[in-house]
Amino acid sequence: MVELAIVAVLAFLLGSVPFGLLIVRAWGLGDLRQIGSGNIGATNVLRTGSKTAALLTLILDVGKGAFAVLLARWYLGETAAQLAGVGAFLGHCYPIWLRFKGGKGVATFLGTVLALSWPVGLAVCATWLISAFATRISSLSALIAAALAPLYALWWAGWPLAVGVAAMAALIFLRHRGNIARLRVGTEPRIGRK
Ligand code: G3P
Repeated sequence: MVELAIVAVLAFLLGSVPFGLLIVRAWGLGDLRQIGSGNIGATNVLRTGSKTAALLTLILDVGKGAFAVLLARWYLGETAAQLAGVGAFLGHCYPIWLRFKGGKGVATFLGTVLALSWPVGLAVCATWLISAFATRISSLSALIAAALAPLYALWWAGWPLAVGVAAMAALIFLRHRGNIARLRVGTEPRIGRK
């Protein structure tokens, strides 16, 4: 029990690392929170004009979710892995290092789900890519992928994982409230636009 609590806290701290913010600062491009949507994720990093910084942010944000799950599974098994995944995801959304004002969780959700069940993760990734190709809107693609993720989890991994995935997907919707409002009035920017 104590071990699981430690895993959850460590995963939360890892998830709290705001890679986008740090990378943009290291690139000398300013404070990401003052750019574009103000979000700390890869989509907003792309708005700085640096594709390399955006790609690196995406890899590290996906990576922290996956790494937390794989490490916890290695040491303590599946329950710890699931707890670590949720911990890292929550850490990204509510980072302790940024006074709990964090990102929308999409990339870390993807990394977590990929490591928990790779067929579900691949299906989520493919859904995002197809939607992004069709709409050119990152937030809409994330919302479509998040909405379908619990169904994929139910199909490939069973209901316990589906419940956890559904809870994370619900939080992704909550974190996209501003995007949803812009989508409704048609002002949400396309990928790469400010
Ligand atoms: O992953 C975040 C994305 O869904 C939306 O980002 O910066 O357009 O609000 P942004």
